[in-house]
Amino acid sequence: MALLNILHFPDPKLRTVAKPVTVFDDILKQLVADMFETMYEAPGIGLAATQVDRHIRLLVMDVSDKGDNPRCLINPEIVDSQGEEEMDEGCLSIPGFYETVKRANHIRVRAQNTDGEFFEFEAEGLESVCIQHEMDHLEGKLFVDYISSLKRNRIRSKLLKLKKQKMSA
Ligand code: NI
Repeated sequence: MALLNILHFPDPKLRTVAKPVTVFDDILKQLVADMFETMYEAPGIGLAATQVDRHIRLLVMDVSDKGDNPRCLINPEIVDSQGEEEMDEGCLSIPGFYETVKRANHIRVRAQNTDGEFFEFEAEGLESVCIQHEMDHLEGKLFVDYISSLKRNRIRSKLLKLKKQKMSA
């Protein structure tokens, strides 16, 4: 297994729209294992392939308290959504910043596992929000897109400044 490098906002690669997964082979399973390791190490509750510069429709997540409920969604689709929920969201690609985002509270998701088999399940609360957040990544979308451009630009300049400091250190 290997830790993968996580892209940070405003890296333009985070704006890439991911392509469907069509081949379910050992290379895919290795990427999933590496993404779980990277997510747990960060630590985070979700990671989309886009964030590790792999532009395929794949995400991993674990919203459990103990970090013992890994879930991998390939080619995920939201087939039904209901209600509204406001939650403070963060993102491994936007470290240190949290903003309130409004999303559907209850969703029904259809996805494939690493063998290509389809499954469906319902999610609500944090799990529902996490899935929607990670699925946004696959569309090249970030949670800061939901806030004002003034706030977003402030976050962008702070992160660029941090990056400069790191590079000159
Ligand atoms: Ni994120």
